[in-house]
Amino acid sequence: MSTMGFFRILFLLLQFSALGVSCQETAEDFLSLGDTALSQDENAKAIPYYQEGIKRIDPEEDSLLIILSLHTNHGSALSSIGKDQEAAEQYQHALTHYANEIDDIVEESFKRDATEIAAQASFFLGMVYQDLKQFHDAVEAYSYAHVLDPNHWASVANLAAVYHDSLSAHQKALAAYQTAYEILTDTQRTPTDAPEEPRYILSQLQYRIGLCISHDLSPNKKCAMDNDPDTPVSCKELATNAFARALEYDPDNEPSKHMLATITADATMSRASNTYIKSLFDDYAENFEHSLVQELGYTGYERLRRVFDRAFQPEDPPMFQKVVDAGCGTGLVGEQFRNVSKHLIGVDLSEAIIVEAQKARPNLYDEVRVGDVTEVFRAEAPLSMIVAADSYIYFGDLDPLFGSMKDGLASGGYAAFTLENVSQDSEESLTESKPDWRWQLTASGRFAHRKEYVMEVGKRHNLHVKHYEPLHGFRYERGEAVRGHAFIMVKGEDGHDEL
Ligand SMILES: *[C@@H]1O[C@H](CO)[C@@H](O)[C@H](O)[C@H]1NC(C)=O
Ligand SMILES: *[C@@H]1O[C@H](CO)[C@@H](O)[C@H](O)[C@H]1NC(C)=O
Repeated sequence: MSTMGFFRILFLLLQFSALGVSCQETAEDFLSLGDTALSQDENAKAIPYYQEGIKRIDPEEDSLLIILSLHTNHGSALSSIGKDQEAAEQYQHALTHYANEIDDIVEESFKRDATEIAAQASFFLGMVYQDLKQFHDAVEAYSYAHVLDPNHWASVANLAAVYHDSLSAHQKALAAYQTAYEILTDTQRTPTDAPEEPRYILSQLQYRIGLCISHDLSPNKKCAMDNDPDTPVSCKELATNAFARALEYDPDNEPSKHMLATITADATMSRASNTYIKSLFDDYAENFEHSLVQELGYTGYERLRRVFDRAFQPEDPPMFQKVVDAGCGTGLVGEQFRNVSKHLIGVDLSEAIIVEAQKARPNLYDEVRVGDVTEVFRAEAPLSMIVAADSYIYFGDLDPLFGSMKDGLASGGYAAFTLENVSQDSEESLTESKPDWRWQLTASGRFAHRKEYVMEVGKRHNLHVKHYEPLHGFRYERGEAVRGHAFIMVKGEDGHDEL
């Protein structure tokens, strides 16, 4: 046999009880002998039984079920020893009998059984056509199997694989993978021959859905979703989502890990949109600190202060005249830097969270601002320090942000901030597949940045690393420690920009 179908399964259709073979042997007796041989993996032995059975078909006596089974099982036995052409003929015989005779059948259960066998015959026919590289015929056979049996997930999955792997029809493949996924996940349906390891199959399907979507990922390309075709979303996001789901079903799905890392590197939506961040935190405002600190085990704010202390003299820290806490949230980090800040300004995009900050820590900030930090830096220049814990993770491309830090800071002013570092796995994948990567959009919608990239953008804006520390486990996500890093940068003399 040549190539295997994507989900090749071979099984017996109907197990007729082995009747004692009488001297006047019928088609049904030979079907039974063939099936017994097939079930014992004696495929070559099964073939003559089926041949004999087919010879003895008596159209007056033998039911359509027996005729369909003989041809279909004969086909299976033939294809299992590599006789694809002959197997295809047997499946076609079965389907012809079915088409010619099904309308004459009255009894519902009988009709159902016949249709089920015909769907299998058509499914098997699709697989032999695939082996024979007759891909358009395979498409027809799989499609017909799905028409006969709408719950035949394996036909649809194989159909998708033919579109995808052999015909480069990515849109059609995508639709078919999605249908297979729906059949397997819709609790209202009973998939025909449900897979033994559904999570593995679902992971494979999501992986392939991701591949089809990411086939053409020109920047800013939008994809329509089936359930809401009027609101297209970013294709990259959809693909990312599919790979992430593939990993939820099967954490060992290495190709998905790899795709997820690659697709999210240097993602072109260079910055999470202000609307996204605002709504994230507006919705979240009242429970913000609780869920951040208690549920996510967030310690970044405290640890940034420890890093700061190590960068300076902990016993004798400098006093900064004018400090902006960028993305201040409820004031966790502001509190940490209060005693080194003469004038402390809290800035956040979310008004709701500023309200929470003032409730929780009424005297913390000298001033608060609702708005975009990049605008506030420039408006409040010259600043002696900018502090940002866990807020630059919403920027992918850091260039505009660092440009505004440079404009806002006085010469010799400091920026103390945290960023996320990619996971070890991602780092390895990226090093291999995209060695010049700069940042990665993570499944949580935030960005993780490469250390060298951060340093390089800083340098371009006359911001130089005074101190760097890894910040592992500053937050937990699904029980996993998130890797991060902390940077203390200092702005050089004006006029020394590399820009
Ligand atoms: C300043 O505040 C930080 C954070 O709360 C604290 O760790 C440090 O001990 C304080 N320093 C002084 C001199 O009070
Ligand atoms: C992640 O952190 C480690 C320090 O623990 C650092 O060596 C490495 O360069 C960082 N990786 C990236 C991609 O920034």
